[in-house]
Amino acid sequence: MSEYKLRPVITYNRIQSKIREIAKTISAQYKDKNLVMVGILKGAFIFLADLVRELSIPVEIDFIRLASYGTKAESSGSVQLTKDIELPLEGKDVVIVEDIVDTGYTLEFLVDHLKKKNPRSVKVCALVDKSERRTCPVKIDFTGFKIPRGFLVGYGLDFSEKFRYLKDVYEIIFEKESNKK
Ligand code: PRP
Repeated sequence: MSEYKLRPVITYNRIQSKIREIAKTISAQYKDKNLVMVGILKGAFIFLADLVRELSIPVEIDFIRLASYGTKAESSGSVQLTKDIELPLEGKDVVIVEDIVDTGYTLEFLVDHLKKKNPRSVKVCALVDKSERRTCPVKIDFTGFKIPRGFLVGYGLDFSEKFRYLKDVYEIIFEKESNKK
């Protein structure tokens, strides 16, 4: 018997329409700039892929991977870099692309880390701004959807590596309290 159910939260069509909106804003703001988009693995790979294909300006793309040890709510020291970006960022205009901002620890760490590479600017684009557990007051410059709570999966987001491949975003509803992340 299944221990959780999936409740639809954001459809693929709504996501695509929001992405077109964000891409239009970013294309206008970064016209004649040296835009580099940095996707955070693994969750952001689908969002980044759809977003860059809606831009009307050139963009360079790179990825970074972070691992969080223990529970993220414990301390910012629990975030560690496991794969750095490979492109030089000196003088470039960076947009970090995240699937979801939850506690904010990942972003706080990453903004700090990327600023050390002397880019001209660093901004943040997140598909989902989930504020309920926010501990670090990070600034999100381009937001897709504000969804205060719930364990979300699909469109890159996983639960123990499951459901990333789903086209829509769902909330996972646990039927047994003990299975919560
Ligand atoms: C998720 C998500 C963000 C981060 C946000 O990644 O993709 O990167 O958590 O959480 P925070 O705001 O509380 O730091 P996760 O560590 O689950 O890795 P994944 O992308 O490989 O699934």
